Amino acid sequence: MRARITPGGSIGGVARVPGDKSIAHRWLILAATADGTSRVVGLPPSLDVRSTASCLAEVTTAARPALEAWSRNAPDDAEGHRSTWNVEGSGSVEMPLEVEGEGRRALVEPGRPLDCGNSGTAMRLLVGTLAASPFRCELIGDESLSTRPMERVAEPLRAMGASVRTTDGHAPVEVRGGHLLGIAHRPPVASAQVKGAVLLAGAAAEGTTTVAEPAPTRDHTERALAALGADIRTADGRVSVEGGFQPGAFAGTVPGDVSSAAFLVAAAALTGSELTLVDVGLNPTRLGFLEVIARMGVRTEIHVDHEELGEPVGELRVAASSGLAGTTVAADELPLVIDEVPVLALLATVARGETWFVDAAELRVKESDRLAGVADGVRSLGGHAGVEGSDLVVAGHRLAGGRADARGDHRLAMAFAVAALAADAPCEVVGIEAADVSFPGFVPLLRSLGASVEVLG
Ligand code: S3P
Repeated sequence: MRARITPGGSIGGVARVPGDKSIAHRWLILAATADGTSRVVGLPPSLDVRSTASCLAEVTTAARPALEAWSRNAPDDAEGHRSTWNVEGSGSVEMPLEVEGEGRRALVEPGRPLDCGNSGTAMRLLVGTLAASPFRCELIGDESLSTRPMERVAEPLRAMGASVRTTDGHAPVEVRGGHLLGIAHRPPVASAQVKGAVLLAGAAAEGTTTVAEPAPTRDHTERALAALGADIRTADGRVSVEGGFQPGAFAGTVPGDVSSAAFLVAAAALTGSELTLVDVGLNPTRLGFLEVIARMGVRTEIHVDHEELGEPVGELRVAASSGLAGTTVAADELPLVIDEVPVLALLATVARGETWFVDAAELRVKESDRLAGVADGVRSLGGHAGVEGSDLVVAGHRLAGGRADARGDHRLAMAFAVAALAADAPCEVVGIEAADVSFPGFVPLLRSLGASVEVLG
C-alpha cells in the first residue's frame, strides 16, 4: 500500500497513542507465566505484540484461549470492541485481556515452532523466558527477523545452563531449557532486549543474575519485575535479580507508546503546531528524543500523573516551534533514542546545518538497515543525507517531494510520512501498512489531527 501525503496544515489537538509495544511484550510474558489471573488493559493490537501473544498461547494451557483470541482479534465481543485493526482502522480501540496464568512451571512444550513474525523483542524475550523451561522449542520469524543477530541472547543463556542453538547466529533458534544458574553478564552492545532476556531467565534461575550494561537502555523489564515483588537491585550501570522468583497475578493499563508519540511530536514540530498527548508512557529511559529535539529547538513539557506497574504515565505537550537547528547525537546517547533515529533524522531535514548520529551501527540490524533506509529515503524525497562509516548525517535541506520506500520497516514508513508534511510537494510512502507493526491506526490518527493522507492500493 502507498500513502500519498499532501504537505501543509497543522497537526494539533489532543491525542492518545496505542499502548507501548516494549511494555506490552513484557507484561504479556509476565501475565502468562504468573500464578493467577491477570488483567491487562490497553495492549496495542499491533502485529508485534500479537506475535508475542500467539507464541505464549502455544506454551500455555489455561491461558491459551484468551491469548489466542486476543492475538487473532477474535470476533467482536460483548463490549463491542472492534475485531480488526489495520492501516485504515482506528488507533484507539483496545481489547482487555484476562490471562489465567498457572505459574512458570505449567508452561508446556509447543506443538509447532513459535512464530515471532517481525518482532525481535518477542523472539529475544521469549528465548530468555523459555530457557528456564524443561522442553524443546523452536522460534522462527519473518525474512527481516531471520537476518537479525541472535547470538547476543543465546550466549549468556548458554552460560546459565540452557541449550540454545541459532542458525548461523540467526533464527530459527532452538531452545532446550532447564535448570539455570545465575550469571554476571556484560553484553558487548547496549540492548534492552538482551538485558530483558537475561533478567527474565535470571528471575527463574538459581542465585543472582547481574547484567552490566555498556550504556543505559530502557528498563521496563526491571521495573515490572520489581513492581511484582522481585528482588531487583540497580547501581552503577548494573542491574541484578534474585532467582527463584515466581510472579503473582497483576492488573495494569499499558501506557501509550512514547515511541509512537514521537512521530506525532515530530509532525507537530514540523508544522509548527501545538499538540498534547495523554496517557503516554513517560519512562525516562524512553525520553532521550525529547532532549535531542530540545537541542534542535522544539519545546516540550511532560507531566507525570500516575504509575502503572512501576511505569510513569502522563501528558506530553509540544509547544509551537520554529527555526530548528541541527545537533549531534553522540554514541552514548544513542541507546536511549534508538527507535527514534529515523524520525529524528527526518526532522533534521528542516533544521539549519547538519545533524549527526554518531556510531549508529546498531541501526543496521533493526527491522531493516535503518542507516541505509533513512539516507536513501531522505534522498528520494529530495533531501540530503548520507552514511559515513557508522555515522548517519542529515543536512538541513527542504524535501522537494518524491516517493520513499519503507522497506517493510514500520518506523521508516512513519518517519517518511511525517516528514512529507513539511515537504514542498506531495510525497508518497511505499509500504505504509508496515506502520501496523507498532502503531495500528497511525494514518487515521494523523488524519484526524489535520494531515492530508490518502492510502492508495
Ligand atoms: C526494545 C529494545 C530495543 C528497541 C526495540 C525494543 C525492547 O532493541 O530498538 O524496538 O523492547 O527491549 P535493542 O535492545 O536490540 O536495542
